[in-house]
Amino acid sequence: MQILEFGTVIVGSGLAGLTAAFHSSKHGSVAIVTKSQLDTSNSYYAQGGIAAAISEDDSPEQHLHDTLVAGRGLCDYDAVEVLVTEGRDRVLELIEMGMPFDKKNGKFILGLEGGHSKRRILHAGGDVTGKELTSFMLNKVKEIQAIKSFEYVAALKLLQKNGCIVGVQCYDFATGKNIIFKAKAVILATGGLSRLYIRSTNPYTATGEGIAMAYEAGAKIADMEFIQFHPSALYIPGQEAYLISEAVRGEGAWLLDENGRRFMKEAHPLAELAPRDVVAYNIFKKIQTSEANNIYLSLKHLDSDKIKKRFHHIYEQLKTLGLDLTSDLIPVSPAAHYMVGGIRTNLNGETNISGLFICGEVASTGVMGANRLASNSLLECLVFGKRAGDKAAKTETPEYSLKNIDPVYVNSSNETKFLEIHSELAIIMSENMGIIRSEEGIKKVLRRLNELDMEYGGSQNEHNNIRIRNTVTVCKLIAMAALAREESRGSHIRDDYQQESIYFKAHSIQQKNQKIKFEPVKK
Ligand code: SIN
Repeated sequence: MQILEFGTVIVGSGLAGLTAAFHSSKHGSVAIVTKSQLDTSNSYYAQGGIAAAISEDDSPEQHLHDTLVAGRGLCDYDAVEVLVTEGRDRVLELIEMGMPFDKKNGKFILGLEGGHSKRRILHAGGDVTGKELTSFMLNKVKEIQAIKSFEYVAALKLLQKNGCIVGVQCYDFATGKNIIFKAKAVILATGGLSRLYIRSTNPYTATGEGIAMAYEAGAKIADMEFIQFHPSALYIPGQEAYLISEAVRGEGAWLLDENGRRFMKEAHPLAELAPRDVVAYNIFKKIQTSEANNIYLSLKHLDSDKIKKRFHHIYEQLKTLGLDLTSDLIPVSPAAHYMVGGIRTNLNGETNISGLFICGEVASTGVMGANRLASNSLLECLVFGKRAGDKAAKTETPEYSLKNIDPVYVNSSNETKFLEIHSELAIIMSENMGIIRSEEGIKKVLRRLNELDMEYGGSQNEHNNIRIRNTVTVCKLIAMAALAREESRGSHIRDDYQQESIYFKAHSIQQKNQKIKFEPVKK
C-alpha cells in the first residue's frame, strides 16, 4: 500500500475542485484525485453559463432577491449574500486572468435564464461555458508545481484519527494498488448524483459517492429530498437525455404541448422562464395527462442565424440526430440534473468533522434553498471553492500515524451485480422519487433499499460491494428526507401534501445512527 502525503487532498476535478486546488496551493502542496479523467465533471458539461451581477443595471441585491425567490424559503441568507457579492468579484478576477467570456462590440453578452429578473448569465464559446471554464482553470492548475493530479484513482474511504479526518483511502485502477493520501485536510468536490436516475443530463460519474463517504464518516447531510430536474432534456427513445440549455428559452424558445399550444403561459406569469421547478413540474404534468412521452421546444419563430451562432454546439449535436434546432420541433422532457442538498457546510466549506471540507454540487452551503436558481452553480463553485481551499490549507492537524488499514480489492466478477442493482434502483428511483412523490411510493423504495442493505450492508472491502453500499446509502438518504418532508416545496413535490407548510421551513439533516431532524434556515 502506497502512502503519499500532501497539505490538502481534493477529491474531484470539476470547477469547485480545481478552484479549491488553485487557492489551496498558495499555502502548501495539493493532490487532486479523480476516479476518471480530469476533464470529466458536471461542470464541464454546463452549457448556459455563470450568473453574476456585473452589468450597470444589475446589482448583487437583485441577484440575491432572485436566488431567494427561487429557493422558496430554504436559502440561508448569509450564504446567498456571500455568493452574490464575492461571486461578482470572483468572476471579475477570472476575466482579469484572461477567461474568454463571449463579447460583442467589446461588451460581455449576458444571457437570461428562468427565475432571473435581469440578463446576467456570462457564457463562453456560445453554449459550451462549462468546457471553456473548466479547461481554463485546468490549464491554470497544470502550471502550478505544488499541485499533483491523480486520474483513475477512486476515493473510497475517509480516514479518521481522534475524530479528525486525516486522509483518504483510494484505489488506483491503473496499478490495481491502494493509495493512502495523508493530508492536513480533505476537500470533497465529488459533484452530484443524478445518474442514480434513468434520465440524467450528467456524466456517468455523477453517482454520489462523496455523500456516502461523508455520511459513513459522521458528516451532517442536508436537504437530500431536493433533486432538481432540468425541464428540457432531449427525448428520443434509446438516446441519452442530452441537455438543451435553459438559455435557449432565455432567447425566446417556446415550450409546446402535443397540440402545438404554449401551455406555460397559463401556468406562470414568466411562462417558459418561470423558475425551473415550476417549468419541470408543468411539463411532467402535461406528459402524464397526455398520450405523449414528451413535449416540444420550438425556435422556429427566432432568427435562425443568431440561434446557430449562439447555440452552435447544441445545433451541431442535434444535427447528428437528424434534427434542426432552428426549424424542427425538438422533443424534450425533464431529466435529473442537479443535487440541491448535500454535505452540510459553513461559509468556509467546513463540516461538523474537523479536517473535512466540501465544495461544489456535493456541498450544502445553504445557497440553493429548495430549488437552485439557474446558472448559480458554477458561481457557487468559484466562491465556495476558494473559501474551502483557503481554509483547508490553513488547517492544523496533530501528528498521527496510519496503521492497520484493510486494503480495498477488486473482484471484477462482482461488477455485473453492481450494474444490475444500479439499473434496478435507477428504475425504482425514477418511478417513485422523481418530480412527484407520495408516501406509498417512497415507502416502496425504502423497502427495497432495506432489503439490499441487509444483503450488502457489511463491511466487505471489495470495490463493487462498496459501490453497491454507496448507491443504497445515497438513495436511502434521498428517500428518508422525502418521506419526512410532508409538504411540497421547490423541487420536492408530494402528491399527498400539495402545499408548502410553515413547519417545514427548515433544512432536513441526516447523520449516521441518528434520527432525521430539521434545523432552522439562517436569516
Ligand atoms: C442550462 O444550461 O440550462 C443549465 C444551467 C444550469 O443548470 O444552471
